[in-house]
Amino acid sequence: MVKLGVNIDHVATLREARKTSYPDPIHAAVLAELGGADGITVHLREDRRHIKERDLKILKEIVKTRLNLEMAGTKEMVEIALQVKPHMVTLVPEKREELTTEGGLDVKNHFVNLKKICSKLKSGGIKVFIFVDPDEEQIEKCYELGVNGIEIHTGKYADALSEEERDREFLKIKKCVLFSLDRKLKTSAGHGLNYENVQKIAGIPGLYELNIGHSIVSRSIFVGMKEAVREMKNLIITAKETGL
Ligand code: PXP
Repeated sequence: MVKLGVNIDHVATLREARKTSYPDPIHAAVLAELGGADGITVHLREDRRHIKERDLKILKEIVKTRLNLEMAGTKEMVEIALQVKPHMVTLVPEKREELTTEGGLDVKNHFVNLKKICSKLKSGGIKVFIFVDPDEEQIEKCYELGVNGIEIHTGKYADALSEEERDREFLKIKKCVLFSLDRKLKTSAGHGLNYENVQKIAGIPGLYELNIGHSIVSRSIFVGMKEAVREMKNLIITAKETGL
């Protein structure tokens, strides 16, 4: 069954909007797990615009499922990861000026550096995933790196402006999931998934996990975190494979 990783960054975004001590992402993590989350994800950004080291450290203590740290492959982040030891790390590209992660990591062009980063993280007992676009060449490079898995960027599928474009992006993702599974990589997906578009992706056979943040945190404002997670989880577990 496809797992649900709940990204709680935007609970911290709300906290940072006023520099208060609430809402606390720690509370969100507890409620997300009670709602059925299979994992908790946070992105510790270089500019600390939402999640802080304090959050990460407490989450490592209290998360009962699995803590996934999204991070850029910088010296600072690798040191923090080796100190905190989340269950897994997802390496993502990061630009200061972006609103959210805009694309997958260019593994082809950063191969040598990524090789060093992956071996450091793995020697610290941390599983490594890489966030990539639905592109077979990039996935092949992830395989050559020997990572535990990949997360396929679903942003273009989610943001498609027409049915044709959405179908095209969906097919690309589906083909890449198969390509990745053939290489025995754990294969996740995420970005831009919401209550309307998640089932088509969740129906792709063999997917390991979907990482979803913004839509769940948004709905939680109205129905509460536990219920927002429960509803998403229900959509995921009842999803059926679609032809296109
Ligand atoms: N996966 C990765 C690698 C991401 O960077 C993000 C956004 O932080 C997500 C999943 C979740 O995306 P969204 O907030 O659009 O659900």
